[in-house]
Amino acid sequence: MARQGKVTVVGAGFYGSTTAQRLAEYDILETVVLTDIIEGKPEGLALDLNQSRPIEGFETTVVGQATGTDGSGYEVIAGSDIVVITAGLPRKPGMSRMDLIETNAKIVRSVAENVAQHAPDSVVIVVSNPLDEMTALAQIATGFPKNRVMGQAGMLDTARFSNNVAEKLGVPVGSVETLTLGSHGDTMVPVPSRCTVDGKPLSDLLPADEIEELVTRTRNGGAEVVALLKTGSAYFAPSAAAARMARAVIEDSGAGLPVCAWVDGEYGISGVYLGVEAEIGRGGVRRVVETDLTESELAALKEAAEAVRAKQADVKDM
Ligand SMILES: NC(=O)c1ccc[n+]([C@@H]2O[C@H](COP(=O)([O-])OP(=O)(O)OC[C@H]3O[C@@H](n4cnc5c(N)ncnc54)[C@H](O)[C@@H]3O)[C@@H](O)[C@H]2O)c1
Repeated sequence: MARQGKVTVVGAGFYGSTTAQRLAEYDILETVVLTDIIEGKPEGLALDLNQSRPIEGFETTVVGQATGTDGSGYEVIAGSDIVVITAGLPRKPGMSRMDLIETNAKIVRSVAENVAQHAPDSVVIVVSNPLDEMTALAQIATGFPKNRVMGQAGMLDTARFSNNVAEKLGVPVGSVETLTLGSHGDTMVPVPSRCTVDGKPLSDLLPADEIEELVTRTRNGGAEVVALLKTGSAYFAPSAAAARMARAVIEDSGAGLPVCAWVDGEYGISGVYLGVEAEIGRGGVRRVVETDLTESELAALKEAAEAVRAKQADVKDM
């Protein structure tokens, strides 16, 4: 099998290292690059991942490289088809994602500037929090076309929604379809009208108050994990989502995925990065796909757009 393509994961913490692992284990890429500012961390994790190859049976090579804030070491990302930005602090219990904005904005801006210089043709997938704002900042700092910069949140929030429904009803997750739009924060918009189990509407299976409980649990899905872990945040489900997005780009699949994408007129909303469904391919976002929403879901999406618009305006100067 011909392996093709190079994906760089910036930040070798929990999110970054598990994303690199998933990408390498797909065994479709020639190279996965893992970088971090901590000397030895990406190199050690890359060596460890490469040593797992004979057992797991994949040939993709993982390259680890420490980078300096002065941009040293970034030559290693040259020719990357995709760069996944995971660099930044995660939440601690009691913190909101927005509490990370100032610290992570500095990190994401500096990473994005180096990406623009060393991998100018790449598609950028941002995961650092607060997600919608960091995605907007990465686009500004790279100067890349807006379709070539997107954020990961909706796939994760949708997976959490599906898992919550499956657990509640005691059915396989594969029989459940859900959708989550809006921001990766307080104005997340789980979409119960798009929720089915074996093709049946969720509203035929559960009363409205129990659906509302599932929606609330989905909205607090990240905080639920953070509270249990007490240090650090979720990474198994988040890395699965980012790796799938990268795979859709590499394979030019056109898959319709919930992602944080630039919205330009869809749903009557313009000029903001927001969680929507989009077709993903080689160049990033091919197009935003509008789905039918109830009146209250559409109103919630518009409210989310206005909330993140205000914050995205702030990051320009961070
Ligand atoms: N979008 C989502 O759905 C989602 C889900 C979970 C976590 N996150 C976010 O992802 C980020 C990473 O989470 P994590 O659990 O991996 O945290 P972590 O602390 O385990 O790892 C972060 C890594 O980034 C590195 N780093 C810091 N500055 C850097 C720089 N300038 N260049 C390169 N590397 C740098 C750190 O050294 C560290 O190794 C956090 O901001 C977290 O909030 C997002």
